[in-house]
Amino acid sequence: MKHFVTMQDLSEQEIYQLIRKADHISQNGAKPLNGQYFAANLFFEPSTRTKMSFVVAQRRLGIEVLDFMTEVSSVTKGESIYDTARTFESIGANVLVLRHSEENIARKLAEAIQTPVINAGDGTGEHPTQSLLDLVTIYQEFQQFKGLKVVIAGDIKHSRVARSNAIALSTLGCKIYLTGMDSWKDESLDFPYITMDEAVEMADVLMLLRIQHERHQDHLSLDQNSYLQTYGLTIDREKRMKKHAVILHPAPVNRGVEIDSRLVECDRSRIFKQMKNGVAARMAVMQSLLNQGGNFYEEDFNQRQ
Ligand code: CP
Repeated sequence: MKHFVTMQDLSEQEIYQLIRKADHISQNGAKPLNGQYFAANLFFEPSTRTKMSFVVAQRRLGIEVLDFMTEVSSVTKGESIYDTARTFESIGANVLVLRHSEENIARKLAEAIQTPVINAGDGTGEHPTQSLLDLVTIYQEFQQFKGLKVVIAGDIKHSRVARSNAIALSTLGCKIYLTGMDSWKDESLDFPYITMDEAVEMADVLMLLRIQHERHQDHLSLDQNSYLQTYGLTIDREKRMKKHAVILHPAPVNRGVEIDSRLVECDRSRIFKQMKNGVAARMAVMQSLLNQGGNFYEEDFNQRQ
């Protein structure tokens, strides 16, 4: 693995290796890397948990963090992303973490430079490290993926989380269903649409999505309560979920819109566990890209097939 920009690049075995590596780190921690490494976190869009969990992951691995703030960088003088990335590469960055509003930009950058690029969210494209932490959270719950019914619910069309997870979960053998408003359907994702009432009774994993207001072309005036009642997870719907079913949400959560605020920390919610797993998932990705930590789960994976 040279870059980590899309879940499409990964085989089932490679995804499993990363999940098991991240799961191992989440339970046992990881030693700092051998040698001196620098990481540049290039966030051109706002972030709380992705950016900060990368920083924690980097510091736990002993990687020096080159923080970057667009508003006081030479981007304000018109420097391109490519030239910014080449600059960090020239001064010794060993890994670049990129969040940007333009779909596919991480892949384009990865094709143009030698330094490993990690996609931390590219517009409506993909968010593969969010997907990995979601997979780790599901794995910790069910210890496998084959045949699990996963419903991805909400603003499918504008969600990079939906796309990365749909790709990865189908590679792993899950049964995927989508639910949401007609105008937010994404024809590029070829999975059946169901209603939220069907979803809560069917799902082993109910993966809620944030409404991506910042990516909507038209200003949509939503009555929050009527959205919650029609498309969201209400108290009544949560009661109809299977006993073992869990709720995921990448956050930040629009409380009272995608989910009743009282359910954000309910027994079956794994929302804050996802965030905790985000650190281990990002450590696993950086270990792999920097060729540290080994692929010590390969033999175990082969035995499980
Ligand atoms: N889930 C997620 O990407 O959150 P941030 O935008 O806060 O990084």
